[in-house]
Amino acid sequence: MAQWQKSDWRSKPRVQMPDYTDAAALATVEARLAKYPPLVFAGEARTLRRELADVGAGKAFLLQGGDCAESFAEFSADNIRDTFKVMLQMAMVLTFGAKVPTVKVGRMAGQFAKPRSAPTETVKGTELPSYRGDIINGFDFTPQARIPDPNRMLEAYTQAAATLNLLRAFSKGGYADIHHVHAWTLGFTETDEAEKYRDMANRIQDALDFMTAAGLTSDNNHELSTVDFYTSHEALLLEYEEALCRVDSTSGQTIAGSGHLIWIGDRTRQPDGAHVEFCKGVANPIGLKCGPSMTTDDLKRLMTSLNPKNEAGRLTLIARFGAGTVGDHLPRLIKAVEEEGANVVWSCDPMHGNTIKADSGYKTRPFDSVLREVQEFFAVHNAEGTVPGGVHFEMTGQDVTECTGGVRAVTDENLSDRYHTACDPRLNASQALELAFLVAEQLSARQTAAKLAAAG
Ligand code: PEP
Ligand code: CO
Repeated sequence: MAQWQKSDWRSKPRVQMPDYTDAAALATVEARLAKYPPLVFAGEARTLRRELADVGAGKAFLLQGGDCAESFAEFSADNIRDTFKVMLQMAMVLTFGAKVPTVKVGRMAGQFAKPRSAPTETVKGTELPSYRGDIINGFDFTPQARIPDPNRMLEAYTQAAATLNLLRAFSKGGYADIHHVHAWTLGFTETDEAEKYRDMANRIQDALDFMTAAGLTSDNNHELSTVDFYTSHEALLLEYEEALCRVDSTSGQTIAGSGHLIWIGDRTRQPDGAHVEFCKGVANPIGLKCGPSMTTDDLKRLMTSLNPKNEAGRLTLIARFGAGTVGDHLPRLIKAVEEEGANVVWSCDPMHGNTIKADSGYKTRPFDSVLREVQEFFAVHNAEGTVPGGVHFEMTGQDVTECTGGVRAVTDENLSDRYHTACDPRLNASQALELAFLVAEQLSARQTAAKLAAAG
Protein backbone atom coordinates (compact mmCIF):
# COMPACT_ATOMS: atom_id res chain seq x y z
CA MET A 1 0.00 0.00 0.00
CA ALA A 2 1.28 3.47 -0.86
CA GLN A 3 2.60 5.44 2.07
CA TRP A 4 0.21 7.94 3.65
CA GLN A 5 0.59 11.52 2.40
CA LYS A 6 -0.64 14.60 4.23
CA SER A 7 -2.69 15.55 1.14
CA ASP A 8 -4.44 12.15 0.75
CA TRP A 9 -7.60 13.52 2.39
CA ARG A 10 -8.18 15.63 -0.74
CA SER A 11 -9.41 12.64 -2.72
CA LYS A 12 -11.89 11.56 -0.02
CA PRO A 13 -15.45 12.74 0.54
CA ARG A 14 -15.46 15.80 2.77
CA VAL A 15 -18.19 17.32 4.89
CA GLN A 16 -18.44 20.51 6.94
CA MET A 17 -15.61 22.23 5.07
CA PRO A 18 -15.94 25.54 3.20
CA ASP A 19 -15.78 25.89 -0.57
CA TYR A 20 -13.23 28.59 -1.13
CA THR A 21 -14.12 30.43 -4.31
CA ASP A 22 -10.75 32.16 -4.74
CA ALA A 23 -8.38 29.26 -5.41
CA ALA A 24 -5.37 31.54 -5.92
CA ALA A 25 -5.88 33.27 -2.56
CA LEU A 26 -6.21 29.87 -0.88
CA ALA A 27 -3.00 28.60 -2.47
CA THR A 28 -1.11 31.71 -1.34
CA VAL A 29 -2.27 31.25 2.25
CA GLU A 30 -1.40 27.54 2.26
CA ALA A 31 2.08 28.29 0.92
CA ARG A 32 2.66 30.89 3.63
CA LEU A 33 1.45 28.65 6.44
CA ALA A 34 3.65 25.85 5.13
CA LYS A 35 6.69 28.08 5.75
CA TYR A 36 5.69 29.22 9.23
CA PRO A 37 7.10 27.51 12.31
CA PRO A 38 4.93 24.73 13.73
CA LEU A 39 3.13 25.67 16.95
CA VAL A 40 4.00 22.44 18.73
CA PHE A 41 6.82 19.94 18.44
CA ALA A 42 6.85 16.18 17.99
CA GLY A 43 8.52 15.53 21.34
CA GLU A 44 5.71 17.32 23.16
CA ALA A 45 3.05 15.31 21.36
CA ARG A 46 4.92 12.12 22.26
CA THR A 47 5.06 13.15 25.92
CA LEU A 48 1.33 13.81 25.88
CA ARG A 49 0.75 10.39 24.35
CA ARG A 50 2.71 8.77 27.18
CA GLU A 51 0.69 10.71 29.73
CA LEU A 52 -2.54 9.65 28.03
CA ALA A 53 -1.36 6.05 28.20
CA ASP A 54 -1.27 6.53 31.98
CA VAL A 55 -4.79 7.95 31.81
CA GLY A 56 -5.99 4.87 29.94
CA ALA A 57 -4.46 2.70 32.64
CA GLY A 58 -6.21 4.66 35.40
CA LYS A 59 -2.96 6.17 36.70
CA ALA A 60 -3.80 9.75 35.72
CA PHE A 61 -6.90 11.76 34.82
CA LEU A 62 -7.51 13.86 31.72
CA LEU A 63 -8.98 17.35 32.02
CA GLN A 64 -9.73 18.90 28.64
CA GLY A 65 -11.50 22.24 28.48
CA GLY A 66 -11.90 25.65 26.98
CA ASP A 67 -14.04 27.64 24.58
CA CYS A 68 -16.46 26.04 22.18
CA ALA A 69 -14.96 28.38 19.60
CA GLU A 70 -12.12 30.80 20.13
CA SER A 71 -12.86 34.11 18.45
CA PHE A 72 -10.85 37.01 17.13
CA ALA A 73 -13.08 39.49 19.00
CA GLU A 74 -12.73 37.86 22.43
CA PHE A 75 -8.96 37.39 22.13
CA SER A 76 -7.20 38.91 25.15
CA ALA A 77 -4.54 38.04 27.67
CA ASP A 78 -7.09 38.22 30.49
CA ASN A 79 -9.39 35.68 28.84
CA ILE A 80 -6.52 33.27 28.28
CA ARG A 81 -5.24 33.74 31.83
CA ASP A 82 -8.66 33.21 33.38
CA THR A 83 -9.40 29.98 31.51
CA PHE A 84 -5.91 28.73 32.36
CA LYS A 85 -6.44 29.70 36.00
CA VAL A 86 -9.77 27.84 36.31
CA MET A 87 -8.19 24.79 34.71
CA LEU A 88 -5.35 24.92 37.24
CA GLN A 89 -7.91 25.14 40.05
CA MET A 90 -9.90 22.22 38.64
CA ALA A 91 -6.74 20.18 38.21
CA MET A 92 -5.79 20.90 41.81
CA VAL A 93 -9.23 19.75 43.00
CA LEU A 94 -8.93 16.57 40.95
CA THR A 95 -5.39 15.75 41.99
CA PHE A 96 -6.06 16.52 45.62
CA GLY A 97 -9.31 14.54 45.68
CA ALA A 98 -8.26 11.61 43.54
CA LYS A 99 -4.53 11.49 44.32
CA VAL A 100 -3.59 11.01 40.68
CA PRO A 101 -1.88 13.47 38.32
CA THR A 102 -4.17 15.53 36.08
CA VAL A 103 -3.24 15.82 32.40
CA LYS A 104 -4.28 19.34 31.40
CA VAL A 105 -5.33 19.96 27.79
CA GLY A 106 -6.88 23.27 26.71
CA ARG A 107 -9.40 23.65 23.92
CA MET A 108 -7.17 26.59 23.11
CA ALA A 109 -4.68 28.00 20.62
CA GLY A 110 -6.41 26.60 17.54
CA GLN A 111 -10.06 25.85 18.36
CA PHE A 112 -11.51 28.04 15.62
CA ALA A 113 -13.40 25.91 13.09
CA LYS A 114 -16.94 24.73 13.78
CA PRO A 115 -19.15 22.03 12.29
CA ARG A 116 -22.75 23.25 12.01
CA SER A 117 -26.05 21.39 12.06
CA ALA A 118 -27.33 23.32 9.01
CA PRO A 119 -25.46 24.89 6.06
CA THR A 120 -27.54 28.08 6.26
CA GLU A 121 -29.37 30.07 8.89
CA THR A 122 -32.42 32.25 8.48
CA VAL A 123 -33.04 35.39 10.52
CA LYS A 124 -36.23 37.40 10.00
CA GLY A 125 -36.73 35.92 6.55
CA THR A 126 -33.14 36.36 5.37
CA GLU A 127 -31.15 33.20 4.66
CA LEU A 128 -27.34 33.27 4.77
CA PRO A 129 -24.59 30.65 4.97
CA SER A 130 -23.96 29.54 8.58
CA TYR A 131 -21.11 30.96 10.62
CA ARG A 132 -18.35 28.29 10.68
CA GLY A 133 -15.88 29.79 13.11
CA ASP A 134 -13.52 32.76 12.81
CA ILE A 135 -10.91 30.78 10.89
CA ILE A 136 -13.48 30.35 8.07
CA ASN A 137 -15.98 33.22 7.96
CA GLY A 138 -17.40 36.07 10.04
CA PHE A 139 -20.04 36.01 12.80
CA ASP A 140 -21.87 39.14 11.57
CA PHE A 141 -25.12 38.34 9.83
CA THR A 142 -24.21 39.89 6.48
CA PRO A 143 -23.61 38.22 3.10
CA GLN A 144 -20.09 39.65 2.97
CA ALA A 145 -19.07 38.33 6.43
CA ARG A 146 -20.32 34.84 5.65
CA ILE A 147 -18.10 34.33 2.60
CA PRO A 148 -15.26 31.92 3.52
CA ASP A 149 -11.99 33.86 3.43
CA PRO A 150 -8.70 31.88 3.42
CA ASN A 151 -6.81 34.88 4.84
CA ARG A 152 -8.59 34.21 8.13
CA MET A 153 -6.28 31.19 8.52
CA LEU A 154 -3.31 33.53 8.88
CA GLU A 155 -5.01 35.50 11.62
CA ALA A 156 -6.00 32.29 13.38
CA TYR A 157 -2.40 31.07 13.21
CA THR A 158 -1.15 34.36 14.68
CA GLN A 159 -3.70 34.25 17.49
CA ALA A 160 -2.92 30.60 18.21
CA ALA A 161 0.82 31.38 18.34
CA ALA A 162 0.31 34.29 20.75
CA THR A 163 -2.06 32.23 22.90
CA LEU A 164 0.36 29.35 23.11
CA ASN A 165 3.20 31.72 23.91
CA LEU A 166 1.28 33.09 26.88
CA LEU A 167 0.25 29.59 28.01
CA ARG A 168 3.88 28.49 27.91
CA ALA A 169 4.88 31.56 29.92
CA PHE A 170 2.17 30.91 32.52
CA SER A 171 3.04 27.21 32.73
CA LYS A 172 6.77 27.55 33.10
CA GLY A 173 7.36 31.13 34.24
CA GLY A 174 6.22 30.94 37.86
CA TYR A 175 2.49 31.67 37.62
CA ALA A 176 1.55 28.00 37.90
CA ASP A 177 3.84 27.40 40.90
CA ILE A 178 1.80 25.33 43.32
CA HIS A 179 2.68 27.80 46.08
CA HIS A 180 0.22 30.15 44.35
CA VAL A 181 -2.66 27.74 44.91
CA HIS A 182 -4.50 30.50 46.82
CA ALA A 183 -3.80 33.19 44.27
CA TRP A 184 -5.67 31.34 41.50
CA THR A 185 -8.97 31.95 43.30
CA LEU A 186 -10.95 34.20 41.05
CA GLY A 187 -12.56 37.22 42.65
CA PHE A 188 -16.11 36.36 41.65
CA THR A 189 -16.25 32.76 42.83
CA GLU A 190 -17.84 33.73 46.15
CA THR A 191 -19.73 30.47 46.37
CA ASP A 192 -19.70 27.24 48.33
CA GLU A 193 -17.30 25.97 45.67
CA ALA A 194 -14.92 28.88 46.28
CA GLU A 195 -15.13 28.18 50.01
CA LYS A 196 -14.45 24.48 49.45
CA TYR A 197 -11.55 25.40 47.18
CA ARG A 198 -10.06 27.71 49.83
CA ASP A 199 -10.31 24.94 52.44
CA MET A 200 -8.48 22.60 50.11
CA ALA A 201 -5.88 25.27 49.29
CA ASN A 202 -5.25 25.71 53.03
CA ARG A 203 -4.57 22.01 53.39
CA ILE A 204 -2.26 22.04 50.37
CA GLN A 205 -0.48 25.09 51.80
CA ASP A 206 0.04 23.16 55.04
CA ALA A 207 1.55 20.25 53.15
CA LEU A 208 3.79 22.64 51.22
CA ASP A 209 4.99 24.32 54.41
CA PHE A 210 5.90 20.90 55.72
CA MET A 211 7.74 20.06 52.50
CA THR A 212 9.63 23.35 52.56
CA ALA A 213 10.74 22.63 56.11
CA ALA A 214 11.89 19.23 54.90
CA GLY A 215 13.92 20.90 52.14
CA LEU A 216 11.66 20.40 49.11
CA THR A 217 11.04 23.79 47.51
CA SER A 218 10.10 25.21 44.11
CA ASP A 219 13.74 26.16 43.62
CA ASN A 220 14.88 22.59 43.73
CA ASN A 221 11.78 20.89 42.34
CA HIS A 222 10.25 21.88 39.04
CA GLU A 223 7.27 19.59 39.63
CA LEU A 224 6.16 22.17 42.16
CA SER A 225 7.05 25.28 40.20
CA THR A 226 5.78 24.45 36.70
CA VAL A 227 2.99 22.55 34.97
CA ASP A 228 2.66 20.87 31.59
CA PHE A 229 -0.24 22.34 29.68
CA TYR A 230 -1.22 21.03 26.25
CA THR A 231 -3.38 22.45 23.46
CA SER A 232 -6.08 20.80 21.39
CA HIS A 233 -8.73 21.56 18.82
CA GLU A 234 -11.03 19.88 16.32
CA ALA A 235 -9.09 19.17 13.12
CA LEU A 236 -11.90 20.38 10.89
CA LEU A 237 -10.28 22.75 8.41
CA LEU A 238 -7.95 20.36 6.67
CA GLU A 239 -6.23 22.91 4.41
CA TYR A 240 -4.97 24.59 7.60
CA GLU A 241 -4.01 21.28 9.21
CA GLU A 242 -2.16 20.02 6.16
CA ALA A 243 -0.22 23.27 5.77
CA LEU A 244 1.00 23.02 9.37
CA CYS A 245 2.15 19.39 9.11
CA ARG A 246 5.87 18.91 9.65
CA VAL A 247 8.15 15.90 9.48
CA ASP A 248 9.80 15.12 12.80
CA SER A 249 13.52 14.81 12.14
CA THR A 250 14.14 12.26 14.90
CA SER A 251 11.41 9.75 14.02
CA GLY A 252 10.60 10.64 10.41
CA GLN A 253 6.92 10.75 11.40
CA THR A 254 4.52 13.46 10.25
CA ILE A 255 3.15 15.58 13.03
CA ALA A 256 0.23 18.02 12.94
CA GLY A 257 2.00 21.18 14.05
CA SER A 258 -1.23 23.02 14.85
CA GLY A 259 -1.74 21.62 18.36
CA HIS A 260 -0.73 18.77 20.66
CA LEU A 261 -3.94 16.76 20.42
CA ILE A 262 -6.42 17.05 17.57
CA TRP A 263 -9.84 15.48 17.48
CA ILE A 264 -12.40 14.35 14.95
CA GLY A 265 -15.91 15.70 15.51
CA ASP A 266 -19.08 13.67 15.73
CA ARG A 267 -20.19 15.03 12.34
CA THR A 268 -16.93 14.34 10.48
CA ARG A 269 -16.01 10.83 11.61
CA GLN A 270 -17.07 8.93 8.45
CA PRO A 271 -14.65 5.96 8.27
CA ASP A 272 -13.94 6.67 4.57
CA GLY A 273 -14.06 10.43 4.87
CA ALA A 274 -11.43 13.14 4.60
CA HIS A 275 -11.06 13.87 8.32
CA VAL A 276 -10.31 10.30 9.32
CA GLU A 277 -7.92 10.00 6.37
CA PHE A 278 -5.95 13.04 7.56
CA CYS A 279 -5.84 12.10 11.24
CA LYS A 280 -4.77 8.51 10.71
CA GLY A 281 -1.39 9.62 9.32
CA VAL A 282 -0.25 12.16 11.91
CA ALA A 283 1.58 11.05 15.02
CA ASN A 284 -0.29 13.27 17.50
CA PRO A 285 -2.69 11.86 20.06
CA ILE A 286 -6.11 11.78 18.39
CA GLY A 287 -9.55 12.33 19.91
CA LEU A 288 -12.72 10.85 18.43
CA LYS A 289 -16.12 12.16 19.41
CA CYS A 290 -18.67 9.37 19.87
CA GLY A 291 -22.32 10.42 19.79
CA PRO A 292 -25.50 8.31 19.85
CA SER A 293 -25.25 7.48 16.12
CA MET A 294 -21.83 5.82 16.45
CA THR A 295 -22.31 2.15 15.53
CA THR A 296 -20.13 -0.57 17.02
CA ASP A 297 -18.99 -1.55 13.51
CA ASP A 298 -17.91 1.99 12.71
CA LEU A 299 -16.12 2.28 16.02
CA LYS A 300 -14.19 -0.92 15.32
CA ARG A 301 -13.23 0.29 11.85
CA LEU A 302 -12.20 3.67 13.19
CA MET A 303 -10.06 2.17 15.94
CA THR A 304 -8.27 0.02 13.39
CA SER A 305 -7.60 2.85 11.00
CA LEU A 306 -6.71 5.48 13.59
CA ASN A 307 -4.63 3.23 15.83
CA PRO A 308 -3.45 0.26 13.75
CA LYS A 309 -0.63 -0.57 16.16
CA ASN A 310 -2.94 -0.31 19.15
CA GLU A 311 -0.61 2.13 20.90
CA ALA A 312 -1.68 3.21 24.38
CA GLY A 313 -2.43 6.95 24.56
CA ARG A 314 -2.90 7.36 20.82
CA LEU A 315 -6.71 7.35 20.79
CA THR A 316 -9.13 9.07 23.15
CA LEU A 317 -12.82 8.27 22.72
CA ILE A 318 -14.88 11.24 23.79
CA ALA A 319 -18.39 10.06 24.67
CA ARG A 320 -21.12 12.70 24.21
CA PHE A 321 -24.56 11.13 24.35
CA GLY A 322 -26.74 13.37 26.51
CA ALA A 323 -28.01 12.85 30.05
CA GLY A 324 -30.40 9.92 30.32
CA THR A 325 -28.99 8.07 27.31
CA VAL A 326 -25.44 7.17 28.36
CA GLY A 327 -26.68 3.74 29.46
CA ASP A 328 -28.12 3.13 25.97
CA HIS A 329 -24.82 3.67 24.16
CA LEU A 330 -21.73 3.55 26.31
CA PRO A 331 -22.00 -0.14 27.32
CA ARG A 332 -22.25 -1.30 23.68
CA LEU A 333 -19.25 0.83 22.66
CA ILE A 334 -17.23 -0.34 25.65
CA LYS A 335 -18.05 -3.89 24.59
CA ALA A 336 -16.74 -3.19 21.08
CA VAL A 337 -13.50 -1.82 22.55
CA GLU A 338 -13.10 -4.82 24.83
CA GLU A 339 -13.82 -7.26 21.99
CA GLU A 340 -11.02 -5.69 19.96
CA GLY A 341 -8.70 -5.56 22.94
CA ALA A 342 -8.17 -1.95 21.90
CA ASN A 343 -6.21 0.53 23.94
CA VAL A 344 -8.28 3.66 24.38
CA VAL A 345 -8.79 6.49 26.81
CA TRP A 346 -12.46 7.04 27.67
CA SER A 347 -13.39 10.65 28.23
CA CYS A 348 -16.80 12.24 28.87
CA ASP A 349 -18.05 15.34 27.06
CA PRO A 350 -21.27 16.19 28.92
CA MET A 351 -21.82 19.34 26.87
CA HIS A 352 -22.75 18.45 23.30
CA GLY A 353 -25.56 16.00 24.03
CA ASN A 354 -27.26 18.46 26.37
CA THR A 355 -27.81 21.60 24.32
CA ILE A 356 -31.34 22.99 24.33
CA LYS A 357 -33.05 26.18 23.25
CA ALA A 358 -34.34 28.21 26.20
CA ASP A 359 -37.70 30.01 25.99
CA SER A 360 -35.71 33.21 25.61
CA GLY A 361 -34.32 31.82 22.34
CA TYR A 362 -30.78 31.37 23.70
CA LYS A 363 -28.98 28.10 23.21
CA THR A 364 -28.19 26.79 26.67
CA ARG A 365 -27.29 23.70 28.67
CA PRO A 366 -28.92 22.92 31.99
CA PHE A 367 -26.17 22.38 34.54
CA ASP A 368 -28.15 19.48 36.04
CA SER A 369 -28.03 17.59 32.73
CA VAL A 370 -24.29 18.18 32.45
CA LEU A 371 -23.79 16.81 35.98
CA ARG A 372 -26.06 13.89 35.32
CA GLU A 373 -24.22 12.83 32.18
CA VAL A 374 -20.91 12.81 34.09
CA GLN A 375 -22.50 10.69 36.83
CA GLU A 376 -23.92 8.25 34.29
CA PHE A 377 -20.52 8.00 32.58
CA PHE A 378 -18.89 7.01 35.89
CA ALA A 379 -21.72 4.62 36.77
CA VAL A 380 -21.35 2.72 33.49
CA HIS A 381 -17.59 2.43 33.82
CA ASN A 382 -17.95 1.30 37.43
CA ALA A 383 -20.40 -1.38 36.33
CA GLU A 384 -18.27 -2.50 33.37
CA GLY A 385 -15.00 -2.48 35.28
CA THR A 386 -13.43 -0.07 32.78
CA VAL A 387 -11.59 3.20 33.31
CA PRO A 388 -13.39 6.57 33.20
CA GLY A 389 -10.30 8.43 32.08
CA GLY A 390 -11.26 12.03 31.69
CA VAL A 391 -13.68 14.84 31.06
CA HIS A 392 -14.08 17.33 28.22
CA PHE A 393 -15.80 20.63 29.00
CA GLU A 394 -16.73 23.80 27.19
CA MET A 395 -15.89 26.37 29.83
CA THR A 396 -14.37 29.77 30.40
CA GLY A 397 -12.82 31.69 33.26
CA GLN A 398 -15.18 34.55 32.47
CA ASP A 399 -18.26 35.07 34.63
CA VAL A 400 -20.65 34.33 31.79
CA THR A 401 -24.31 33.29 31.97
CA GLU A 402 -24.57 30.69 29.22
CA CYS A 403 -25.47 27.42 30.99
CA THR A 404 -28.45 27.51 33.35
CA GLY A 405 -28.28 26.25 36.94
CA GLY A 406 -25.30 25.66 39.19
CA VAL A 407 -24.78 26.87 42.75
CA ARG A 408 -25.18 30.51 41.79
CA ALA A 409 -28.20 29.49 39.76
CA VAL A 410 -28.26 31.11 36.35
CA THR A 411 -31.89 31.22 35.20
CA ASP A 412 -33.40 31.33 31.71
CA GLU A 413 -34.04 35.04 32.24
CA ASN A 414 -30.37 35.65 33.17
CA LEU A 415 -29.01 34.16 29.98
CA SER A 416 -28.96 37.49 28.17
CA ASP A 417 -26.93 39.17 30.96
CA ARG A 418 -23.51 37.94 29.93
CA TYR A 419 -23.87 35.63 26.96
CA HIS A 420 -20.59 35.97 25.05
CA THR A 421 -19.92 32.67 23.34
CA ALA A 422 -19.35 32.65 19.59
CA CYS A 423 -20.91 29.21 19.43
CA ASP A 424 -22.06 26.82 22.17
CA PRO A 425 -22.86 27.79 25.79
CA ARG A 426 -19.93 27.37 28.18
CA LEU A 427 -19.71 26.62 31.88
CA ASN A 428 -18.61 29.64 33.89
CA ALA A 429 -15.83 29.43 36.47
CA SER A 430 -18.00 28.43 39.43
CA GLN A 431 -19.94 25.84 37.43
CA ALA A 432 -16.64 24.38 36.18
CA LEU A 433 -15.26 24.21 39.70
CA GLU A 434 -18.44 22.58 40.98
CA LEU A 435 -18.04 19.88 38.34
CA ALA A 436 -14.42 19.32 39.28
CA PHE A 437 -15.45 18.65 42.89
CA LEU A 438 -18.09 16.19 41.68
CA VAL A 439 -15.61 14.34 39.48
CA ALA A 440 -13.06 14.23 42.30
CA GLU A 441 -15.71 12.65 44.55
CA GLN A 442 -16.50 10.04 41.91
CA LEU A 443 -12.83 9.22 41.48
CA SER A 444 -12.12 8.88 45.15
CA ALA A 445 -15.23 6.71 45.61
CA ARG A 446 -13.82 4.38 42.94
CA GLN A 447 -10.52 4.21 44.78
CA THR A 448 -12.22 3.43 48.06
CA ALA A 449 -14.22 0.68 46.37
CA ALA A 450 -11.06 -0.75 44.78
CA LYS A 451 -9.26 -0.77 48.14
CA LEU A 452 -12.17 -2.49 49.83
CA ALA A 453 -12.29 -5.08 47.06
CA ALA A 454 -8.53 -5.67 47.37
CA ALA A 455 -8.84 -6.10 51.12
CA GLY A 456 -11.38 -8.83 50.34
C1 PEP B 1 -17.32 20.55 19.80
O1 PEP B 1 -16.59 19.89 20.54
O2 PEP B 1 -17.35 21.79 19.82
C2 PEP B 1 -18.24 19.82 18.88
C3 PEP B 1 -18.77 20.40 17.81
O3 PEP B 1 -18.48 18.58 19.29
P1 PEP B 1 -19.19 17.33 18.57
O4 PEP B 1 -18.39 17.04 17.36
O5 PEP B 1 -19.10 16.27 19.63
O6 PEP B 1 -20.61 17.74 18.29
CO1 CO C 1 -19.23 23.09 21.03
